[in-house]
Amino acid sequence: MTDKYAVIGNPIGHTKSPLIHGLFAKETKQDMNYTAIEGPLEPENAFEDTVRAFAAGGGKGINITAPFKLKAFAMADERSERATLAGAANALKFANGRTFAENFDGIGLLRDIEVNIGLPLQGKRVLVLGAGGAVRGALLPFLAAQPAELVIVNRNLCKAQDLVSEVGSKGPLRALGYGELEPMGQFDLVVNATSASLTGDLPPVPPSVFSPEGTAYELAYGKKLTPFLRLARNAGVQGIADGVGMLVEQAAEAFEWWRGVRPQTRAIIDQLTVPFD
Ligand code: ATR
Repeated sequence: MTDKYAVIGNPIGHTKSPLIHGLFAKETKQDMNYTAIEGPLEPENAFEDTVRAFAAGGGKGINITAPFKLKAFAMADERSERATLAGAANALKFANGRTFAENFDGIGLLRDIEVNIGLPLQGKRVLVLGAGGAVRGALLPFLAAQPAELVIVNRNLCKAQDLVSEVGSKGPLRALGYGELEPMGQFDLVVNATSASLTGDLPPVPPSVFSPEGTAYELAYGKKLTPFLRLARNAGVQGIADGVGMLVEQAAEAFEWWRGVRPQTRAIIDQLTVPFD
């Protein structure tokens, strides 16, 4: 019987996940079908009911997008360590009557940076802008890559400090405010994980953080040259990237978790890439 998968979010019209997983399934010859579900925002338990109905109807797994990642995490019976630190799930698996929660956003981002872009983070100086859900999901995979330094900067400094103290002594991690960045010198990688690009805004990051030989990474995708990427380009940064590779890589992680087979990602990333100019 064909196995059922889906992505659930609200709104969901923009999702690329059915396309990506459809191509993965074709390439790896998996008998599965993957749809998009617009999840109900109200009443409070309607999201969970929808997901449980999907599982009861033969669903084997589901991807979660905004605004349901916290609810998906909360409804699981078992949670991975990175999902637990994020407090959020972007994928669920249903097996033996139990619900398992994972968060592949951070590992997808890391794979895109290290494998696709070709920037191993070991010994590198890394700056992450933002301290929201996206950063929570990325912290453990980033630290596992053993950077020399991992600096989290946020307008609301307490939020960044809380995050750092939650992770504790796991690595060379520190929280700063934007005003403290100037004396920090250049970073090999600067990741914009704020939601500023969604509104066309620029986080107050000084151009001095960019290294011309370094990489600037925008988590949002398909938005061409965002103010952040433009700032990096004007600062002479050679390597600029958006989050399309992360999108495909987190999908590949979920696919492997569900199906036990790892799909190729390069051709799909190329297909979905929107040129900057
Ligand atoms: P997500 O789940 O996408 O990370 P979020 O949890 O709402 O979204 O977090 C949004 C992040 O973007 C926060 O770190 C926020 O900073 P504050 O905590 O200081 O509000 C950051 N952010 C949003 N707009 C920004 C802007 N214009 N400049 C700098 N940071 C911004």
